[in-house]
Amino acid sequence: MDKKVYIETYGCQMNVADSETVLSILKTKEFEPVVTIDNADVVILNTCSVRDNAEQKIWNRLDFLKGLKRRKKNLKVGIIGCMAQRTADKLLEHIAVDFVAGPDAYRSLPDLINETDIELKTHNTEFDIEETYSGIVQYKQSDKEISGFIPITRGCNNFCSYCIVPYTRGRERSSSYTDIIHEVKDLEEKGYKEVTLLGQNVNSYFYEDEYRKVDFPTLIQMVADAVPNMRIRFTTSHPKDISDDLIDTIAKYKNICNHIHLPVQSGSNKVLKLMNRKYTREWYLDRINKIKETIPNCGLSSDIFCGFSGEGEEEFQETLSLMQEVEYDSAFMFKYSVRPGTAAAKKLEDDVPEEVKVERLNRMIALQNETSLKSNKNDIGKTFEVLIEGFSKRSKEQLFGRTQQNKVVVFTAEGLSRGDIVFVEITEVSSATLKGKIVKP
Ligand code: 5AD
Ligand code: SF4
Repeated sequence: MDKKVYIETYGCQMNVADSETVLSILKTKEFEPVVTIDNADVVILNTCSVRDNAEQKIWNRLDFLKGLKRRKKNLKVGIIGCMAQRTADKLLEHIAVDFVAGPDAYRSLPDLINETDIELKTHNTEFDIEETYSGIVQYKQSDKEISGFIPITRGCNNFCSYCIVPYTRGRERSSSYTDIIHEVKDLEEKGYKEVTLLGQNVNSYFYEDEYRKVDFPTLIQMVADAVPNMRIRFTTSHPKDISDDLIDTIAKYKNICNHIHLPVQSGSNKVLKLMNRKYTREWYLDRINKIKETIPNCGLSSDIFCGFSGEGEEEFQETLSLMQEVEYDSAFMFKYSVRPGTAAAKKLEDDVPEEVKVERLNRMIALQNETSLKSNKNDIGKTFEVLIEGFSKRSKEQLFGRTQQNKVVVFTAEGLSRGDIVFVEITEVSSATLKGKIVKP
């Protein structure tokens, strides 16, 4: 009988896509994906290492699984993803863990799991620079989804000094453009309406074969042409590599969403240098100006964190002033968490006290809430194309969806459902959502 496998995903969208790849690999080797933990024979946690609290969550979850294993003697528990790569030895010491696999080792998972029947614990954390999971079409747990993720690059070569990813996901590599188009077409056939192309730095996508050389602006055009009725998104862009060519391409194609996630991390040149980000505040603002000039009404979002080594009040003020200048529609905001093994952990002192980090983070969030509200108020009276994602949490009579700019819109409508595209005029807003009414395009 097939073993039932249940997977829990933590961290980024790349992990969401990887979990589907893992289920696809396991399904061909006599494992059956299930959607609840209750009757699973195998539980897999796909983990994140980006900040310490992401790892703490997993240790807590493992304590819960230890209890579950007492009641279900044959249950196997595995850890995959970035934390598996970073801290395999410590994880294998935990009584609940049976197997561990890093991000390049997922093809070996069926063997690793089966071997736990004979051996006590198994693991594979080898890097494989060739591994792009080519030829594996991701397994979809539900046939109701409308939005999918496709990794186009894996790994990272940037070595931002604070970041664990180059150590957990290895060097950057790009998938073949033919595989990517095949996967996008497959999503379209399954009824998907939107695809997000994923990579740590999508702008450095590059694939060469005997026919042609393909960079990111070319790839995104190929995808947009291949599925003209699907919305195309992409993340993450590194500011140092976002080209005029890409910005012009987004402006030119109706089905490439007018939204760019462009993590700035800090507004201070001194801190950006210590972070090894390889751009300045001035370079970043120039890119933002180019985007604003070329793509009217482009959604802009960012990742920003405070409390990095060397960030005094003056440097932090520069982050706040950059946020005011750009006026992001939304931002993911964090406080710095030292990651063992990174350049910052080795060479820089974690010199901002925790209470100062917390206080700065709160100021940053307060400012962004104001800016988001201002940006949303600006939308009142305007009409947006909205892809319906489902019923709103509060009421079954209300639907919600997203604009191209990636803002959530709630509205009332009958006879429509998930996957439909409608036009909505904005009538009311908060800092987090827009409300509106359906209009004719
Ligand atoms: N501490 C805090 N935030 C971090 N990020 C990455 N590494 C760290 C760290 N050590 C943030 C960055 C990145 C996002 C995914 O997480 O803002 O863009
Ligand atoms: Fe977390 Fe980064 Fe790994 Fe994604 S790539 S799981 S965000 S550490």
